[in-house]
Amino acid sequence: MQPMVRLSGVGKTFGDTVAVDAVSLDLEPGKFLTILGPSGCGKTTLLRMIAGFIAPSFGHIEVNGSRIEAVPPWRRSIGMVFQKLALFPHLTAFDNVAYPLRMRRFARSGIAERVERYLDLVRLGGLGERRPHELSGGQQQRVAIARALVFEPDILLLDEPLAALDRKLREDMQLEFRRIQRELGVTTINVTHDQREALVMSDEVMVMHDGRLQQAAPPAETYGRPANRFVAGFLGLTNFLDATVIGRQGDRLVVRIGDVTVEGVGEAPEGAHVAAALRAEKLRLVEPGDSGLVTFPAIVTETVFEGDRILYQVRVPALGDAHLQLFDHDPAGHGRHEPGEAVTIGWSPAHLLLFPD
Ligand SMILES: Nc1ncnc2c1ncn2[C@@H]1O[C@H](COP(=O)(O)OP(=O)(O)OP(=O)(O)O)[C@@H](O)[C@H]1O
Ligand SMILES: [Mg+2]
Repeated sequence: MQPMVRLSGVGKTFGDTVAVDAVSLDLEPGKFLTILGPSGCGKTTLLRMIAGFIAPSFGHIEVNGSRIEAVPPWRRSIGMVFQKLALFPHLTAFDNVAYPLRMRRFARSGIAERVERYLDLVRLGGLGERRPHELSGGQQQRVAIARALVFEPDILLLDEPLAALDRKLREDMQLEFRRIQRELGVTTINVTHDQREALVMSDEVMVMHDGRLQQAAPPAETYGRPANRFVAGFLGLTNFLDATVIGRQGDRLVVRIGDVTVEGVGEAPEGAHVAAALRAEKLRLVEPGDSGLVTFPAIVTETVFEGDRILYQVRVPALGDAHLQLFDHDPAGHGRHEPGEAVTIGWSPAHLLLFPD
């Protein structure tokens, strides 16, 4: 299948700054890709190149089989929603959504029906006569989405369109977006630095750091099998421990951490210093009867009640006095431990991920 978007070694420099560095990626039609990464890592720059607003300094971009720069802007079939909405304040919701159709000289007779259909799609049926200031933040957001979709583009580009919304509304809109995207089957590229948003909405998550692609994979894989230390630290709450590789046991590495020897998953030569990563939800308070875990005595140093879970910080003397964070998702079942209490912590060797430093 021909990809809808193909990035081939795409890069952009601004003076001495390398904003995007040799990114390659194919995106199939109908997929939802999220570009995830910290502030300044090059997300917006990459999106602007895909939109054809700025030209790559090197590499090239194909959209639907053609080099993007070869297609004049008004022929590009790309809808965009930005962080700042840029709705026309003096136009009604209806006229905002109708605008791209009028710009494209869409047949006058079909406009009303099309606009109403897209207002319904974003659940704003009946509110078409309101101006932006008469709508809530989330409703304005949905007008912007309808406006980006109404001319039925091949590609939808989103630059943090939900960032300004409060958490509850943002989470509702994430699901709403996913519903609309699936219903229309429009190929979508979304930019965010919110990892939850990336995991919830996407078919594929592309993690960036310092202009470089770190990993591009389905959400569960990016989360469960991070490609490197950066990805492991950026997604989820992750503990890192200094470790040294001392050997191999089957398909696992044997490492030394503090005073102990444990097994973990990764690739590194003997003698290498590696970072051993343990997700907070993979680290457990050990109960009598638990088996198959590597266990150590620990002291609780902090207990943070978060409603549906408790975040514990524990000190583990055997692991070089490391401070580790762990989640207990069943506080009602396990009881609550207070700072100063002695507990036993543990993990399964399959969950200790080793990354070369
Ligand atoms: N027009 C420009 N001129 C010079 N430098 C730029 C320009 N646009 C972006 N940069 C630089 O390129 C890098 C990437 O910027 P970009 O806006 O792509 O980051 P981002 O990942 O979108 O960040 P954020 O999450 O904060 O929006 C930054 O170092 C930024 O300062
Ligand atoms: Mg940006």
